[in-house]
Order: sequence, then structure tokens, then C-alpha cells
Amino acid sequence: MKIGIFADAQECASVASEIIIDLFADDPTSVLGVATGSTPEPTYQMLRQAHQAGRFSLAKGQAFALDEYVGIPSDHPERYRNMLLRNLVENDATGLLDENLHTPDSEHPDPQVAAAEYEAKIAAIGGVSLQILGIGTDGHIGFNEPGTSLTEVTHVDYLMEQTRIDNARFFDHQIDQVPTQCITQGLGTIMSAKRILLLATGKQKAEAVKEICEGSVSAFWPGSILQMHRQATVLLDEDAASHLQLADYYRQRWALQQG
Ligand code: PGA
Repeated sequence: MKIGIFADAQECASVASEIIIDLFADDPTSVLGVATGSTPEPTYQMLRQAHQAGRFSLAKGQAFALDEYVGIPSDHPERYRNMLLRNLVENDATGLLDENLHTPDSEHPDPQVAAAEYEAKIAAIGGVSLQILGIGTDGHIGFNEPGTSLTEVTHVDYLMEQTRIDNARFFDHQIDQVPTQCITQGLGTIMSAKRILLLATGKQKAEAVKEICEGSVSAFWPGSILQMHRQATVLLDEDAASHLQLADYYRQRWALQQG
């Protein structure tokens, strides 16, 4: 795991966006795994700016979402497909075409079938080149809540109460408006991405960051599985890094690695 610690969320986003821009400069047909939630939004904004400046394009690429709510109306602004359309597709945001943005089918009459189809679609394209991730305060990545199998594939699951509390801010602070069910890439699916880029910012993430980076690999803190990935990079702001025991060493090593 490479761990980079930066002054603030903007600096994390700047580093993340340059990694993604380099990837698509090397291979414009790459497959980007896209996370939702608020953490990646500054990165998406920088990708849009780079697209406007002619330095970046997803026109030949594909994007796969990590997860989607089940039972959310198709026109709901918090439906993850809609969030990703706004950030990456609409008004030629990044060049990504609507048909090349793939999200689990939350309206499928049988969500289990939708989950299996989504897993097959990721496999058929040859897997994700680089997966962007956020982290939940309970350590989830995607919607893989504590106790999920560490090798699970895309599946239907239920949100923890803590996650629904955390996400209520997107639903007018009404927890009963937050869906209870989701389709999510499993930890096994996420681990099959060639490269992982996890972003975490803010004090509220400090405990989860400490556990996934320095704790034991355990289904109790699902993001800890990333310790088993050969190409996982974790980008943190000072607040999210504030519980790390070896923060100084990570800073030195990052500087040497960039060096
Ligand atoms: P956030 O969510 O980026 O909105 O904090 C992260 C997550 O739940 O994975």
C-alpha cells in the first residue's frame, strides 16, 4: 500500500486526477472504476477542467460504478447513475459517453440477477484498469459493510444504520428516505481491479483509515483487504491521516517514491 498524506482535500484531488490523466494518456481505452459520495467530487471537477483544457478525455474509455441503491426512483438526483452522469457525462463533462457509463440496474425486477449481470459485464470487458474508492466511517468500500466476505463478487446487500445516518445528508437529513438495499461490487470484484486509488478526507474518516491501513486484515474493517492488493494507493488529507501511527514514515517514503 502506498500512502500519500497531503494538506487538504484539494491537494489529494490534484494528485488523484493527475494519476488518472496519466493512465488515459497511456491508454485512452482504459476502464475507470468510479466511486460516488462526496469524496471524489473534487477529483471529478479537476478531470472536467483537464478535459476542457484538452489534457484529458474519457471519449474512448469506459466507466463502471462501484454500487447503486436499489429501489430509488430513476429520476432521483441521488441515484448514483444520475450523480455520475452529472459529474462525468452531461455537457461533455469529460468526453465519457452515456452508453459507456455502466451502473448496476437498480430497476431490474430481480436485483440478484442485476448483480450477476453486472459482475459478468465487468469480467467481459477484462476488468477495471483503475478503481477510485472512498471509505465509509465504518470502513466499507463500495457498499461492502462490516462482515461481508473478503472474496465476495457483485451482490445485493443491506446498508448499515451508520451508513444510512452518514448518507442522510444527501436526502434532506431524512434517514427514512435513504434506501436500505443496494447492489455493490464485492470485495473480490474490487480487488480484481489492476490498480486501486482510495481517497479519504476529513477527521470523521481517521479511525477507518487507521484500521484499514495499520490494522489487521479483517471483514470487520472491509477496506483492510486493500493491504492484499499489489497496486493500491491511499491518498489522505492531514485530518484523515491523523490517527496513523507511522504517518511520518509514509510521508518520507512517498517523497522518495516520487523522487
Ligand atoms: P463520502 O462516502 O465520500 O460521501 O464520505 C464515502 C463512502 O461511503 O464510501
